[in-house]
Amino acid sequence: MGRSHVRTRRDADPAGYGFALDELERPLDPRGLFGGEARQAPVEVEIGSGKGSFLVAESEVRPDTLFLGVERARRYWLYAADRLRRRERPNARIVRGDARDALDAMPEGSVSGLHLYFPDPWPKRRHAHRRLLIQPEFLAACERVLAAGAPLRVVTDDPGYFDQIEAALAARPKLVRSRYEPPASANEGELAGSNFERKYRVEGRRIQAVAAVRASVPGVS
Ligand SMILES: C[S@@+](CC[C@H](N)C(=O)[O-])C[C@H]1O[C@@H](n2cnc3c(N)ncnc32)[C@H](O)[C@@H]1O
Repeated sequence: MGRSHVRTRRDADPAGYGFALDELERPLDPRGLFGGEARQAPVEVEIGSGKGSFLVAESEVRPDTLFLGVERARRYWLYAADRLRRRERPNARIVRGDARDALDAMPEGSVSGLHLYFPDPWPKRRHAHRRLLIQPEFLAACERVLAAGAPLRVVTDDPGYFDQIEAALAARPKLVRSRYEPPASANEGELAGSNFERKYRVEGRRIQAVAAVRASVPGVS
């Protein structure tokens, strides 16, 4: 995404809603980023939150779940954190850092859902190597943090990338393919309801989705 796609307010302020991953304790307990009572609620993580549209919308319709976004680009992180602060979302926060580092910092089995919507930040073919690679190591990190029965949901407009994700998933028996359910905040006919989905639908791109749940294998962690 180019610089022109986001215009962060001059007075943008992440206070209380946006955190730098590098400055957080390890292991990272996402519940610690929320206020008192919220600490009992399940935590879902969105990777590559961009401007934070999913976090804003989903946290409103599902107030009993805590949503943690992970965004690498500082300007998008700041934009999203400022949005959450201005809307006073009690159940959504965003950390600035790399997705893999964030997953590795979280305890095993601590996440009740993982959302990856349009994880390709570089639509140009020559930038393909910079995408958030959903490869075996990355899926292993997802598998580790997901609680038994918790879903991983991925949506993309890139057919080659979709095939790559499906192949990588097929090689992980503990991530069992399941029916894809759009998030509660998506509109009729949408698969994610994110900013990029809306933009790409206008452009007529084909959008595909895949889901898998973390299997519980007795005796195997
Ligand atoms: C194409 S945008 C999609 C934004 C949003 N999910 C949506 O659907 O509108 C991809 C986002 O993922 C972020 N991203 C890419 N690789 C990342 C990584 N390794 N860790 C964290 N964020 C990443 C990018 O900075 C960008 O904001």
